Amino acid sequence: MTGDTHGAGDTEATTANGKKGLTVTDNRTGKTYDIEITDGTVRAMDFREIKVDEEDFGLMTYDPGFSNTASCRSAITYIDGEKGILQHRGIPIEQLCEHSSYLEVAYLLIYGELPTEDQLSKWVYEITHHTYVHENMKSFMQNFRYDAPPMGTLLSAVGALSTFYPEAQDISDEHQRHMAAVRLIAKMPTLAAFAYRSSLGLPFVYPDNELSYAGNFLSMLFKMAEPRYEPDPRLERALDILFILHADHEQNCSAAAVRVVGSSLVDPYSAIAAGVAGLYGPLHGGANVAVLKMLQRIGSTDNIPDFLEGVKKGDERLMGFGHRVYKNYDPRARIIRSHVDEVLEATNKESPWLDIAIELEKRALDDEYFTDRKLYPNVDFYSGLIYEALDIPTDAFTVMFAIPRTSGWIAQWLEMHHDEELRIARPRQIYTGARDADYVPASER
Ligand code: CMC
Repeated sequence: MTGDTHGAGDTEATTANGKKGLTVTDNRTGKTYDIEITDGTVRAMDFREIKVDEEDFGLMTYDPGFSNTASCRSAITYIDGEKGILQHRGIPIEQLCEHSSYLEVAYLLIYGELPTEDQLSKWVYEITHHTYVHENMKSFMQNFRYDAPPMGTLLSAVGALSTFYPEAQDISDEHQRHMAAVRLIAKMPTLAAFAYRSSLGLPFVYPDNELSYAGNFLSMLFKMAEPRYEPDPRLERALDILFILHADHEQNCSAAAVRVVGSSLVDPYSAIAAGVAGLYGPLHGGANVAVLKMLQRIGSTDNIPDFLEGVKKGDERLMGFGHRVYKNYDPRARIIRSHVDEVLEATNKESPWLDIAIELEKRALDDEYFTDRKLYPNVDFYSGLIYEALDIPTDAFTVMFAIPRTSGWIAQWLEMHHDEELRIARPRQIYTGARDADYVPASER
């Protein structure tokens, strides 16, 4: 069994009735059931037929953390975790990073194919001309505490967008869906830059429509008194590649959050805000923050052996390592690693943490604890070093992840709304609490 995204996996094996699938005998009753296998998958609802008697609810499947449950069919992103393969709409991530741009990849994810030249220029024009946010949004964002973590501010701001575009509640209207996609992708860098500048007490910088998507973002982050910010093309390209690498990653925590919340048919801004919240956590997008804090805590390559001993004893985790799906080197980590030196050169910086990261990776990959568990660097292991070189404060790293992941969330959300099998997400539980207990007045407890 591989750790890949399922798509095939059916064999010629047949059930007692000659169907492709499983023949299951319930030893409680001696009854036999045929369970069909399609796309290497059985349907959980087929197990509900397995009952002890007519009163019985039927068999449920139990899968905490959805380790082995496909929640949807998707044609957006393919991952083979054993081989370290990542493809969007079938195109390898390496090719996209080499030849494409973030906005082109966003189009590919959302509309299913690479745009023609005309489609691309229209798409880029639309995104570029929806980057401004309502002035009330500015005052909304200025009202957080002076030291508000930018990711919390961004999360609230994305939710607040739903109040500016109530027409987006008509999710059956194709035009509204398209406008929400354009607005979210266009405004996310503006909101992210506002959240960053507000956390530093700096005035907001309005979008510059003459600049590229990444160049404009750099301008909104760093422009001071100069009449026009000129982004360094090397940094612009490196940032664009980071955006491509973070654009989508199939059914991870935040994409699943978008689909679960979106399945209630709520507007797209609210569904995407759920994705931002999912990404915020240290086991997901917040890992890039945790990695840098970990490298700072380790402080020197001399301390690596002690640190790794602590990880092996279970006192802490090696952040930026391990992945639910990748059981091999995360291809995104390899591409990011290859850009770290280039960014340090462009920014004329030396990273005090790079040597520690390289040595940490080397030692971990030489250690059976990590190799036995197939723990390899993931996308977050090196991305923080680039953000740091770009002068992004540590607590804004996850914001840098949220900007490009927006296109993936939208693609997942749109695909879900075209799915004929869409139903509101509503998992089951195994109830373990008390039953039929009597209320006890407070004075008697
Ligand atoms: N450091 C040390 N041990 C680890 C780590 C780690 N980073 N990750 C997993 N393990 C161990 C874990 O203790 C367990 O060992 P044992 O079998 O002895 O109990 C085994 O490996 C399997 O781990 P798991 O927790 O069952 O794996 P999971 O699939 O539930 O978790 C993960 C995946 C990404 C949450 C986890 O590897 C982790 O916490 N990594 C560090 C956080 C991180 O870098 N997250 C970013 C993920 S990539 C960006 C994104 O897509 O969000």
